[in-house]
Amino acid sequence: MAAGLWRRAVCRVLGAAKSPGPVSRRLSDARTVTLIPGDGIGPEISEAIVKIFEVAEVPICWEERTVTAIQAPSGKWIIPPEAKESMDANKIGLKGPLKTPIAAGHPSMNLLLRKTFDLYANVRPCVSIEGFKTPYSGVDLVTIRENTEGEYSGIEHVIVEGVVQSIKLITENASRRIAEFAFEYARNNQRSTVTAVHKANIMRMSDGLFLRKCREAAENCKDIKFTEMYLDTVCLNMVQDPTQFDVLVMPNLYGDILSDLCAGLIGGLGVTPSGNIGANGVAIFESVHGTAPDIAGLDLANPTALLLSAVMMLRHMELHKPAKKIEIACFETIKDGKVLTKDLGGNSKCSEFTAEICRRVRDQD
Ligand code: IPM
Ligand code: MN
Repeated sequence: MAAGLWRRAVCRVLGAAKSPGPVSRRLSDARTVTLIPGDGIGPEISEAIVKIFEVAEVPICWEERTVTAIQAPSGKWIIPPEAKESMDANKIGLKGPLKTPIAAGHPSMNLLLRKTFDLYANVRPCVSIEGFKTPYSGVDLVTIRENTEGEYSGIEHVIVEGVVQSIKLITENASRRIAEFAFEYARNNQRSTVTAVHKANIMRMSDGLFLRKCREAAENCKDIKFTEMYLDTVCLNMVQDPTQFDVLVMPNLYGDILSDLCAGLIGGLGVTPSGNIGANGVAIFESVHGTAPDIAGLDLANPTALLLSAVMMLRHMELHKPAKKIEIACFETIKDGKVLTKDLGGNSKCSEFTAEICRRVRDQD
């Protein structure tokens, strides 16, 4: 496609519906992606990604949607219909941070999005970034977290006053599909080993079922090495030498905790991407850091985690060329070390860091 057409394909569709006017006809080669900027620093880091994508001439069109907690007449908490319809049509979304107040009275919108679109696999690659010093180097692993059940099922009740029961739900189907996903991911991404992380010595039935499904998936995928390890042993080994790990697959809560630990090894949630993948290509890519309300609107936020999540999204869409280009520009900016946001050890604004990445994207042309 000619460069001019690519440029026109990068647009921003605002409003409730995709209108079948001249604009959408002109954009017929571009795919539309739902953009959920989120709360706090969400809008400014999303703006950074939109800018970088524009400069990289990525052939996608953004459809911006707001996600706040909404209650249906039945009392059920739902995703706002405009956001739901947009995701149903586009299948792919990019999302900034959404706040999860403990006492808000509604469920976490982050979780409701995963549940609504059955995004059962949470994928978080943790790869050491050259030039960004942490106590670890050579980290190159991926956590794959079951995203729909376990302790996150939200089944809790008071049995008698002072005694609360919370149910950890593990099903054969969800365990099988995440185990199979992990092996397929390993195969498609030139990874050699999958480690099942569990506590089947204690949670004999639930983790036992999860582990059995991992073993079965391993049987059907002999080209990938399979190991299994208790969660506590993984934590011990991880902080001693993370380079021994490759792909790790685990139930929901273990994945929530272990993925933060792994992010810490490479510099934190500010530089760690994340993708929530479902069936038939449906996926939402997101930064998993908080909304940082203390610096919101001050042009101080670091867009790296959302940008690397957007790069994951491009690979998911098989847009490998712009993915590589943007990734190189981001990593070179960090390695060079001259234009960095505060949390990365520099003094630059979000807009300056973004401009530097844009310059490096242009330089590759
Ligand atoms: C994550 C987050 C979420 C989780 C929160 C925001 C609900 O920590 O994506 O890891 O607990 O899954
Ligand atoms: Mn988490």
